[in-house]
Amino acid sequence: MLPTIEWQSDAVVMIDQRKLPAREIYVRCTTPQEVARAIRTMVIRGAPAIGVAAAMGLALGVRRSKALGTKQLAVEFTKQCDLMAATRPTAVNLFWAIDRMKRAFSAAVLAGHSVAEIALVMEREAIAIHDEDLENCRAMGRIGAQVVPDAARVLTHCNAGALATAGYGTALGVIRAAAELGKVSKVFADETRPFLQGGRLTAWELTRDGVPTTIITESMAGPLMRRGEIDFVVVGADRIAANGDVANKIGTYTVAMLARAHGVPFYVAAPLSTIDLATADGDHIPIEQRAAREMTHVGSLQVAPAAASVWNPAFDITPHDLVAGIITEKGIARPPYVDSLRRLFNS
Ligand code: MRU
Repeated sequence: MLPTIEWQSDAVVMIDQRKLPAREIYVRCTTPQEVARAIRTMVIRGAPAIGVAAAMGLALGVRRSKALGTKQLAVEFTKQCDLMAATRPTAVNLFWAIDRMKRAFSAAVLAGHSVAEIALVMEREAIAIHDEDLENCRAMGRIGAQVVPDAARVLTHCNAGALATAGYGTALGVIRAAAELGKVSKVFADETRPFLQGGRLTAWELTRDGVPTTIITESMAGPLMRRGEIDFVVVGADRIAANGDVANKIGTYTVAMLARAHGVPFYVAAPLSTIDLATADGDHIPIEQRAAREMTHVGSLQVAPAAASVWNPAFDITPHDLVAGIITEKGIARPPYVDSLRRLFNS
């Protein structure tokens, strides 16, 4: 199992995803500020992993503030929650995890716990968020593998794998579980411009697992589908609105349109922590804009003229009508999503 992120009582340790696959380097964060920076700079990325990192960062912050009184601790904790919330705007798992940590904090204060006891409660909550995410990924894998056709040639976009979660992955969890059942003949990994999560991370994870993997640029998905070489598409999500619209890595919408045009089933795999029933539709999901340098440079090499302006949204919205099903740890939601997503929460 890939060690995406680990709690070490006085530190949060993460594999540096910016350096993969060339180098396996671990970053050790000892303050919530360092964790927030790691999220912002993409040392760790992927919606569920960002949530886990924020929770662990908050637990670290409370642990380091043990010398404070409860009132002062509450002020510090609120500041640290705001710091985490300002790291990346689209992945709703971040806000979900912060809310969960806030609720645990308030309950511990209300119960009259000492500051040392509150720190322990926070640590346990962060570890629970991590462990539950891993369990959810395995459940999504088991459930999603059922809809993968036999001998499937599967296309995925970005990295929704072990690296993007506490482990195993959402979309890659489905692929892994299907591969374990012998249902996957090969995987096409979209390279995923400009940060190359597909070419660097998905291909790294799958080849480590021995799954036959072919890297393509996004622009090659169309001709591949036209040749009848893709049977199934599965991607992850950063936020799913109440009507089933999906925010995911830029390029997902194009893949979904291509899949529709070629009659290829397009599935999304995401835990309930990625579903945001408070947001009505995709138009209300905030889309992160990232630095121009991600597009103008490859490493330190400049590949575009400095005078050109750059549009670099990190995510796009795939309208719900292009999605065949949303695979969650509680089952597969089918259209109409306004009803089916709500039912999953109530189940
Ligand atoms: O910008 P990133 O790398 O954080 O974007 C990641 C994605 O878009 C993933 O597909 C999504 O978070 C799902 S991860 C299980």
